[in-house]
Amino acid sequence: MLCKLERIKAELFPMTDDLIRFRPEFPILERTTYMISNSLGAMPRGVYDSARAYCDIWATRGVRAWEERWWMLAAEVGNAIGGIMNAAHGSVSMHLNVTSCQAVVASCLDFSGKRNKVVYSDMNFPSVMYFWEAQRSRGARVHMVPTDDGVHVSTQRLIDAIDEETLVVPISHVVFRSSYIKDVKPIVEKAHRVGALVVLDCFQSLGNVPVDVQALNVDFAVGGVLKWLCGGAGTSYLYVRPDLGKTLEPNFTGWFAHENPFGFETGPTRYGEAPFRFMQGTSNVPGFYTAMPGLKIIHEAGVARIREKSKKMTARLIELADQRGWRVNAPRDPERRGGTVAIDMPNSKEVCQELLRRDVLVDWRPRAGVRFSPHFYNTLEEIDRAIATVDEILSRMGVAETAK
Ligand SMILES: Cc1ncc(COP(=O)(O)O)c(C=O)c1O
Repeated sequence: MLCKLERIKAELFPMTDDLIRFRPEFPILERTTYMISNSLGAMPRGVYDSARAYCDIWATRGVRAWEERWWMLAAEVGNAIGGIMNAAHGSVSMHLNVTSCQAVVASCLDFSGKRNKVVYSDMNFPSVMYFWEAQRSRGARVHMVPTDDGVHVSTQRLIDAIDEETLVVPISHVVFRSSYIKDVKPIVEKAHRVGALVVLDCFQSLGNVPVDVQALNVDFAVGGVLKWLCGGAGTSYLYVRPDLGKTLEPNFTGWFAHENPFGFETGPTRYGEAPFRFMQGTSNVPGFYTAMPGLKIIHEAGVARIREKSKKMTARLIELADQRGWRVNAPRDPERRGGTVAIDMPNSKEVCQELLRRDVLVDWRPRAGVRFSPHFYNTLEEIDRAIATVDEILSRMGVAETAK
């Protein structure tokens, strides 16, 4: 019996799953079924020490901590993130959130001319849409490409919407609602052909789906560390293509971006070099400390291996949902599917609440359903158990199983 079980396990999870060795690094996995990395990645144990190191240097070195460690930490963390997306050294600056990264980009742009069109899809994260919509008051003309099915975004329609009057194309790499992976390259090619810039939101990809900013040739890439990079809140990144990083002049700026910040000069700024050129004022230093342990683990685990395992886990979720006749709001093609599978089973909102009560950590979104987001630290057994828990909840609710 045991042998058969082991064989099945080995088939489903070949020896490649040495990622499981990272499980002890995440305390919450001992207490919960943690499948919500699309929202907040599990905290690495190392964050306790890292946060303590922040306190220690503040307590013992006081203001000297700035020159000894804190000032350059933004660049250090930026380079660590850059290493995961093949960004050139010094091309990633650090910010509070993705919305403010978009603001930095927008502040480099001039909407007063004929080229003032902003093209994106309605599957962008709402905060990003709210931000670009608000740029209408600066002269932006927003063109939103709608989804047909709530899962996919038509690459062709996005491409068709990008024209000679397009200034910028802010798009998500992996759609937060459905986990659809956009075909970024042809969008970038079209944008560049007509002289437009592309801002790629990698929040739902980096750390789980390979991102290569150089191969994709994007102009900007943004995201945060709190989801798939297991780095906590308040730390987001902005990659600027190195050649643009030499010339762009953000008017959302501050003394960190000045060529000589400690000169405390008066009058207009003189821009320094990237990455600080794209920053403003004092950075979120404790956020950098909490980000570092997760980044180290992701580097060690390797995104290629994480991705392989992720595809197996999301396939398993779809298989189990299909067996039960539940609606799956995620792409069927594994190559187009990120790390999340949204399942709209009967009473999905109530099911989600009950799952949370039972320490199966997932979330629910309108027009999506219950979102299951396993990461490299999860197992197939946990997936089976999570779905078995849904079965039990539904049967208590008196909902008969549809298929199986
Ligand atoms: C794709 C995407 N972009 C942006 C955000 C959030 O942006 P911000 O960092 O401004 O809160 C999220 C959060 O879930 C997201 O999924």
